[in-house]
Amino acid sequence: MNRKYRKTVIAGNWKMNKTPSETKEFMTAFKAIMPKGRWCDIALCVPAVCIPAAVRAMRETRVGIGAENCNANPSGAYTGEIAANMLTDAGCKYVIIGHSERRAMGETDADINAKVHAALEAGLIPIVCCGETLEQREAGITSEWIAMQIKLALQGVSEEQIRKVIIAYEPIWAIGTGRTATPEQAQQVCEEIRTVVRKLYSSKHARATSILYGGSMNEKNAFELLAQPDIDGGLIGGASLVPEKFVKIIEAANQPTM
Ligand code: 13P
Repeated sequence: MNRKYRKTVIAGNWKMNKTPSETKEFMTAFKAIMPKGRWCDIALCVPAVCIPAAVRAMRETRVGIGAENCNANPSGAYTGEIAANMLTDAGCKYVIIGHSERRAMGETDADINAKVHAALEAGLIPIVCCGETLEQREAGITSEWIAMQIKLALQGVSEEQIRKVIIAYEPIWAIGTGRTATPEQAQQVCEEIRTVVRKLYSSKHARATSILYGGSMNEKNAFELLAQPDIDGGLIGGASLVPEKFVKIIEAANQPTM
């Protein structure tokens, strides 16, 4: 983290977990123990049907609610899809784009780029995900793969718009497996992502971009991961479903930075 230049962001990704009623219960419990300090931004990205309950519950707080996906089109005949401006109108601040679980369902880099543009145009903060498979890591192509994903996701994103974008590095082999990247592994890739942003934009833009780590981040390993200079927060799956665990991760972000 480096709070002098950029925001620290602790974001939950609930994936396909919790009903609207369970969302209400979570938010009540979370609000009761939520840290008061302002050392980081807090986001909770929830299933679409849970957004109204989450927004209502968090209205008077500083927690931003997000969606887990959006469609790239502004409206039209896309049965079952949700447009970015619908999410904004529903009270969302964030949207996760290009999660590996969605890429596995067939989402392409071109889809992801179109969604990033749709999100920015709708005034949402896109949390753009990238990450390599274990096979790619073992083949030694992690850096190239991540650079490619980031360059494709950010095509046509202006200097003005990149200020609104959050990037999340989520090695696929670490998601939901309990096998976290070591702080050094995560730091290395997050640093490389910052270099990609620097080459695409400028040092100033690279320095100001929040780059999160995701993949089995929990209340035990968060402090060490967040202590890395280029890891500006977390995108947390499993541990964001339990208020006490999520709070501990938020507290882990309260540490001195350079
Ligand atoms: P886990 O924290 O459950 O490994 O999930 C990470 C993730 O995919 C967040 O987007």
